[in-house]
Amino acid sequence: MITKAHIDVKQDAKSNNQPIIKIRNLRKAFGDNVVLNGFNLELYEGENLVIMGKSGSGKSVMIKCLIGLMQADSGYIEIMGKDLLSLNQVELDKLRTEIGFLFQGSALYDSMTVRENLEFPLRRHKHKFGPIEDTTPLVEEALKNVGLLDAIDLMPAELSGGMKRRIALARTLILKPKIILYDEPTSGLDPITSKEIIELMRNIQREYRTSSLIITHDVDCARVVAERMILLVDGINYAEGTYNELASSEDEKIKAFFKQ
Ligand SMILES: Nc1ncnc2c1ncn2[C@@H]1O[C@H](COP(=O)(O)OP(=O)(O)O)[C@@H](O)[C@H]1O
Ligand SMILES: [Mg+2]
Repeated sequence: MITKAHIDVKQDAKSNNQPIIKIRNLRKAFGDNVVLNGFNLELYEGENLVIMGKSGSGKSVMIKCLIGLMQADSGYIEIMGKDLLSLNQVELDKLRTEIGFLFQGSALYDSMTVRENLEFPLRRHKHKFGPIEDTTPLVEEALKNVGLLDAIDLMPAELSGGMKRRIALARTLILKPKIILYDEPTSGLDPITSKEIIELMRNIQREYRTSSLIITHDVDCARVVAERMILLVDGINYAEGTYNELASSEDEKIKAFFKQ
């Protein structure tokens, strides 16, 4: 259900804020395969924006261009007011500490305990927090956020698939990112575990007021999470709106998403 509260948040976000991420006219082709053909997006502060598209439609390519893992052919990308392509390596690294990722393949280090897995990003990004004498409070806070404090001394092999995904989310949260990018956060999980992850994403959003970009082909995930949605079709932002607005569209290409 999209409640009135959600819609108000969305409109407040739109009217009061500059977008925290702005993508303009993004293009990317692999040979003859034109994947992104002028894609636009604005993510506003504090909102949950879902990008829905069929498998192979270019969702992951878009997010890889956004974080600089892949180079777009052309287009403009701005994150927190900075032109991504104009940044040097130091500036880019600094910006990246403000962005958390939860990718399907965001695997934990198998040879490290849960605690050590969570300490890893803190050490890697020392410049954000300065030297931390005792990481335990931060690790414990992050684990509490995903309801897995008891797992602190376990090895990844001792965790279920759903628990691993939650620990990966805790590892993302420990850096207190302003933006979280989720690429198919529920894929490969059973429906009950998926629901738990979706619920966690919503709680995190509420508690920390992070801005989230959620990529999914899962209509149920979109329905529960999205304050606003963009449909990626034919390489462009084909349609935008709330779940209810899009689900009641008469457009054939839009209807195809909701027929299940
Ligand atoms: N590194 C690559 N080299 C060539 N083609 C690629 C590469 N990455 C993705 N593609 C192609 O781009 C298209 C979109 O892929 P992707 O963004 O992964 O889709 P999805 O929407 O499922 O995430 C697909 O046709 C895929 O084959
Ligand atoms: Mg993908």
